[in-house]
Parts: sequence; C-alpha cells; structure tokens
Amino acid sequence: MIPLFEVKQLTKKHWDAQVKRELFSDITTCIERPVRIALLGKSGQGKSTLLRILAKLDSVDSGEVCFNGQLMNEVDSRTWRMNICYVAQQATMLPGTIKDNLIISSKIHNRPFEEDFARQLIKEVGLDDLDWEKQAGDLSGGEKQRIALVRSLLLRPKILLLDEITASLDQQSKELVEQLLIKLHQKEEIAFIWVTHDTEQANNISERIWYMEDGKLASDLKTSEFFGDQASFPTQVIL
Ligand SMILES: Nc1ncnc2c1ncn2[C@@H]1O[C@H](COP(=O)(O)OP(=O)(O)OP(=O)(O)O)[C@@H](O)[C@H]1O
Ligand SMILES: [Mg+2]
Repeated sequence: MIPLFEVKQLTKKHWDAQVKRELFSDITTCIERPVRIALLGKSGQGKSTLLRILAKLDSVDSGEVCFNGQLMNEVDSRTWRMNICYVAQQATMLPGTIKDNLIISSKIHNRPFEEDFARQLIKEVGLDDLDWEKQAGDLSGGEKQRIALVRSLLLRPKILLLDEITASLDQQSKELVEQLLIKLHQKEEIAFIWVTHDTEQANNISERIWYMEDGKLASDLKTSEFFGDQASFPTQVIL
C-alpha cells in the first residue's frame, strides 16, 4: 500500500549563510495512514520552516516529499496546497470582510463556496456571534487565527500543518479548536502535524510525537511512549 505521506532525507541549510551547520538534516519519516502528530522542539529548531517546506511554501536544499506516492516537485503548488494545507501562527487576513476571507480559498481553487459547512465550522470554533460583514483586519488575534483555520478547512485538505494555531486563544476556545480537529480527523480522516509548545495539548491531541533537537528528528514515537518513557522524554528542555 502506498503511504499517505513520506519525508525522505530533508535537509535545509541555515537561512544565515554565515552559519555553517544545517538548520536540520536527514529528516526522514513516513505517515502510513491519516494520523494525529504533535511536532515539538525548542524555539528555533526549524519546526515552522519544516512545515512550510512540507506545504511547498519554502524551498528545501535536498530530500524528497511524497503525498500518495506523488513527488512534491512533480505536483503544482496550488494542487499540493489544496491537499496539504499550512495554517500559520500569525494569521494573515486579506483585505475585505470576514465573508470575503472565507470565500477566497474556494475562488483560488475553483471550488464552490460551501456556506453551510463554513457556518458550521465557524460555530464549532466559537465564532457564531461574529458578523460576516465585519472587516477581517479589525478582528482580534485569536479571532483571526480561527478564521484562518476555517478558511483552510473549507478546502477539505487531507493533511493539515498547524503552526501554534491556538497560541492566542483562551482555554475554552482552545478546547473547541482541539475538539473540532479531533472530530474532523475521526470523521473525515484528516491527518495533522501540529506544532505546539504546550505539552498538555500535545498529549491530548496526538497519537504520535515528532521531536526535533539539534537539527534532527530525534524522536518519532507513539505519544504514550514519548511521555511515558522518562528516558526519551527530554524533561529538561523547554518546549
Ligand atoms: N524566512 C526566513 N529568513 C531568515 N531566517 C529565517 C526564516 N525563517 C526562519 N528563519 C530562521 O530559521 C531558524 C528556525 O526558524 P523556525 O521559525 O523554523 O523555528 P521554530 O522551531 O518554528 O521556532 P519557534 O518555536 O520559535 O516558532 C531561526 O533561527 C529563524 O530565525
Ligand atoms: Mg515556529
């Protein structure tokens, strides 16, 4: 059977050419089926860079990525990003209203706007009181994050790359987002790779942990093994 997602020997030189060591090297892993992964590691390890490379938003120096057996380089960026969707920590709103922002991804990808699905998602992330005619630029950071997440979910991606997407949210909103994503994983078989510094969240939302350290994918373990095995859980580091 062809794996859902394969990452083979990905290497990224440091952005700063003066730094001789790589940002990360030889990142190799395989996702056989839709799975929930938490990606952990100290600040500056390259987690966001890795996600952006996987979404074809940044270049890579060597290595390969395959989705359903298709090489990333052989798939056009728009098609790739419809299936493998990056949601940034700092959500960028396009000029216009909330509705404009929700419709835009359907327009770009030539798909019908599923308004009922959008309303359902907006409700599930706790934003049902929001007036869709409001200017998106006026939203709070946490509201923008959730609109950006809904905008991505409307594409019905197969793999979500989530970059600290609940970092600006209160506890209740954070839990709503976690519940929604777990539900979508179970019902729609969406896989996700979720970067977080919140170990409790990582434990709650994931089946596997990828842990980056010293430019390597140092652990790729079941969540219970990662947190259960004191020897492999790097308690001394600040995640
Ligand atoms: N576009 C860029 N241009 C120059 N340097 C960059 C760029 N993107 C990332 N970097 C640098 O690469 C390193 C890794 O950054 P990255 O954002 O991937 O780390 P991270 O693991 O996501 O960290 P954090 O947990 O703080 O979000 C950092 O030193 C950062 O300054
Ligand atoms: Mg980051």
